[in-house]
Parts: sequence; structure tokens; C-alpha cells
Amino acid sequence: MDFVEQLKSSVDIVSVVGEYVKLRRSGANRYMGLCPFHSEKTPSFTVHVVHQFYKCFSCGAGGDVVKFVMEKDGLSFYEALKSLSERYGVPMPKRSQYADEDSKLRGALLAMHEQAAEAFRANLQSQAGDAARGYIAKRGLAPETVEHFGLGYSDRSGRALVRLFEQRGFPVAQMEESGLVGKRQDGSLYDRFRNRLMFPIHNESGKIIAFGGRALSADDEPKYLNSPETPIYKKSHVLYNLHRARETVRKEDRAILVEGYMDAIGVTAAGFGNVVASCGTALTTQQVQAIKRHTHRIAVNFDPDAPGVNAAERSVDLLLAEGMQVRIVELDGGLDPDEYCKERGAAAYQERIDGAQGYFYWLADRARAKHDMRTSEGKVAVLNFLLPKVQSITDQLERMTIAGDVAGYIGVEKGMVLDHFRKAVSERSERAIERPKSPLRHDERWLLVALLTDPELRAEMIGPLRSLQTVEALPSRRIFQAIFALHEAGGRVGFDEVNGRLEEADQNLLAHAVLNEDGEISREDVMAALGTMQRSEQQDLRVRLKTRISESERAGRFDEAMRLIAELQGLERATGNRRA
Ligand code: UTP
Ligand code: MN
Repeated sequence: MDFVEQLKSSVDIVSVVGEYVKLRRSGANRYMGLCPFHSEKTPSFTVHVVHQFYKCFSCGAGGDVVKFVMEKDGLSFYEALKSLSERYGVPMPKRSQYADEDSKLRGALLAMHEQAAEAFRANLQSQAGDAARGYIAKRGLAPETVEHFGLGYSDRSGRALVRLFEQRGFPVAQMEESGLVGKRQDGSLYDRFRNRLMFPIHNESGKIIAFGGRALSADDEPKYLNSPETPIYKKSHVLYNLHRARETVRKEDRAILVEGYMDAIGVTAAGFGNVVASCGTALTTQQVQAIKRHTHRIAVNFDPDAPGVNAAERSVDLLLAEGMQVRIVELDGGLDPDEYCKERGAAAYQERIDGAQGYFYWLADRARAKHDMRTSEGKVAVLNFLLPKVQSITDQLERMTIAGDVAGYIGVEKGMVLDHFRKAVSERSERAIERPKSPLRHDERWLLVALLTDPELRAEMIGPLRSLQTVEALPSRRIFQAIFALHEAGGRVGFDEVNGRLEEADQNLLAHAVLNEDGEISREDVMAALGTMQRSEQQDLRVRLKTRISESERAGRFDEAMRLIAELQGLERATGNRRA
């Protein structure tokens, strides 16, 4: 068994996927949940226990446990193996043939970031870092905080990192790929970050993958310069500080979401270990899912200015769509989270977190402030604004409760709102029970499943099946052929092996076949299916013979016609069929 097989047989795909997706059992061999690869409200994502694969019938994503980790964590094949082998304690061979080009590049980029962070930290303590240290003092950051967050300083030379990387032998191509170094028209290299306070950005496993650099003076533009996207940095997947916050987030079963680096740092320094930052951009599904792996409860604390409020609203729509429980933290005095902690202290901030109201009350307040609630037009406008948002709450009980509460809160007839929702809910559950329809016949599916799972039946059936021309005309013929070929070669004939020999369209068919057959298929079922195939073979044969007979007659080839008629009669006697 090679390492990949060994790893896959010791890791259960259900528990790996379960770390990212809330799965519930939906059959003897199946789990279902909301697809982590696209946004959906009713589950079409399925994990198969026996065959150890996943498939989304909505977006088409599918594969084995390694593919899942690759896609979900943005890793190369080799890195996914490594990550799984570490998490599940399956030792990986040392000199591995899986170290491909891609992961070598990532390794180099990670090393460059580690070395850059070290250089930035050293700069900050050196004489060149005087002004930056002055700025840090002015912002009220304690030395422990600076150290905890690994803050540093990129000097004014514009060549420091280029020199460092040259000394350490990194090729120019890698320097450019790192995003830390730029290239001028004339081919000369320069540091991307100059004279800035440097914030290292980590991935969830704590490796530095990017930087944010803050200008030290107000006239230096932009205020923050950030790393570009690189092979190790996908902006939309990363939340600042998540690798530090995740423990506390789990323990307290709540995350605080802020906008800026300085907010995350200030709030952490005030003693709140569960804060993460979106870094000024609109939240993405991937970021929400990263949080959701640790908690379903989130307190959103964006800036009090207008863009902050609008960002909050957009982000919250996404959080709700992902099934998070959302509260909105409101700070008085127009202060951002960092300023609030510094000016009012940790206890006051704690009060604001504890007193944060559910998202819908906050929304209702905002809507009420915009419209005249004494008029019925005003009430209708507010309802029309709120109802679609309430409707997007995934949990039914919560949805009904909030619908009732919100109605009361804005002073409209509760019954009216609830009616509206009951209707929407019953439509939704009708949609939810739809099962993917299989493009395959049931006997076809039974035979495939039996061939894949039962070696004894396989040995018995493969001969008869191979002799059937009917099989060669089935939509799933290429799957049967793959099974025949593997059997012939004498290797293992399992889902993975067969799947690996198929083109994507046939892989989808195979997934359909396997996922539509839940529960035990008995020997009798399988034999009956074989019988059906054989009967349709006879039927096909008869049809073909009859066509040929009438062709011969029409062409006046009576000898040939007589011979074919005898053949047809023989066939019908053999199958006990009097007249087709
Ligand atoms: P803020 O302007 O609120 O920054 O932008 P801040 O973190 O509170 O920093 P201070 O307190 O003003 O020093 C919020 C976040 O938006 C991103 C950064 O991630 C910042 O932390 N941002 C902002 C940029 O990427 N570029 C910019 O030019 C400005
Ligand atoms: Mn700020």
C-alpha cells in the first residue's frame, strides 16, 4: 500500500469534513450538510461513509479526503497529505516523492516571510526604528503587545529585504512572487514596504503569509499598504488574528469581529482574546466559514462611521446566510473599538459586548430612524426592508421567534408577519426534500454498487456482464468497462480505483449511482438486476434479428432470411419466450 492509500484508510472523511461542515446522518452510509464550496441554504453536500468521498449535487464539487483538504485549505496535494498526516498521526515517509514544485515555492515564500518579519522586528529595536517606536508609544501600545503581535518596522532604504534575500540565495523569481519585493522597468529590485509600521498576517496554522504596513504620518499615502495576493496569501480567506484567537473563541463560544489591525490589537490588549479583524474589506464566505468552525456566535463591532455601518450590514447578511448568530456592538462617542478600550477601559467594553443586541433589533432601530413609523407607509417600508433579512435565517425556530419579536418591536400585527413566514417556510421545506434524480436505471445502479463492494458477487457476475452488449450501450458503460479492466488486471476494485480511471462526467455518474443506493442491497436484488440486464439483452438481440430478417426479405436474400429466422426461433426457445 502506498502512503496515500495508507493515509486515506486511516483517516475518516466524515470526521475531517465534520471539522468544516455540520453534518447530519441522512442514511445508513451517508451524511449531509451545507456545501462549503458554495453558498446554499438547503443541504446538497453529501459524504459517503463506505466509499469515503464527498459530492455536492448543486455545485458539482466532489472528491476524496485529500482533495477536500486541498480545496478547503488552499493547499497543494503534498501539503494536504502533510496536514492530514500531522492531524491524524499517520507518519509520512521522510524523503517523499510528493514534494512538488508548487510546495517548494510555497516553502520558500513562507521562509521569506519569516525572515522578513524577523528583520522588521530587529529594525524596530534599532536606531532606524526611533520614529516608529515614537509612534507606537503615541498609540499607547505596550512592549508586550508589540511583541505579542510581532510588530516591526520596514526601514527607509528600500533595499533591506532585497539585500537580505540575495544574501540568503533566493532567486529573483521567488522574490517577486513573494510580494515583498518589486521590480522596476530597468530590472532593479526594491522593497515593497518602506518606512512603515509592519503587522505580520498569519494563516490559521500560525505561519506568516503577508504583511500590512501602516504609514507613520498622516500625509503618507496610503494609510495602510498591504501585501498583494501571492501563492500563500489569499486575501478573501484570511482573518487577521484568527490563529491566536481561535482557542479563546472556542472556549467562550463567541468571536468579536472588528475591522482593523489596530482594533484587533487594542481589544486583545484590553484582555479580550477572541477578536478577529476583517481588515477593511467586505467579509467573504470563506472568512465566515473559518469562524464558523470555532463558534456560531459572533459580535460584530465595526467602526461607527457611515462606511463602517454599511460594511456591517453587508457582512451581517453574509453571516446570517451562513447560519451565524449575530449581535451588533454599538459604542458611544463615535469611538472605534481600539479607542474605546483605551479611553473607557476593559470593563466598559465588556458591558458593551454583553449588552450587544441581536442583529434584528439593531436593524429595526436603523430602519425606524429612517422612516416615519406613525404612518402606515412608514411601517410597510420598514417591514419590507426587514422581512427578507429575517427570512434568510436558516434555523426555523429562530426565524419564527425573531419574526414575532420584530413585529412587536416595530408595532405591527404579529399574526400578519407570522403568516407571511409560515408560507415561506412550507415552500422552503418542499424544496428541501428534493433528492438528486439519478440518470441511471436502478438495475444499473445495483450492479455497479455490488461490483464495487462485494468481491464474491463481482467474481460471479463479471463474466456474464462482460458478454452483454446491452452493458456497452448503458450511460454508465465506461464505469463498467473500468471495473472490468481493473478486475482483469487483478488489482483492488474499489470506489477510488474506479473513480480514478474516469473522466469527470463519468465520475458524476458514479457518485449518483453510489449515493442513490443507500441501505443494503441483497444478493437477490443483484441477481434480479443481472436478470433484467440479460432479458434486455435478449430483447435487443431479437429486435436486431427481426430488423435484419425483414431487410433480407426485402432484398430477396431468402436463404439468409431463413437462417436468421431459425436463429430467432432458437433464441426464443432458449429463453422460454413464445412471442416477443
Ligand atoms: P482603519 O482606517 O479603521 O484603520 O481601517 P485602523 O486599523 O483603525 O488603524 P488606525 O487606528 O487608524 O491606525 C481599518 C482597516 O482597513 C484596512 C486595514 O486593514 C485597516 O486596519 N485599510 C485601511 C487598508 O487596508 N488600507 C487603508 O488605506 C486603510
Ligand atoms: Mn483605529
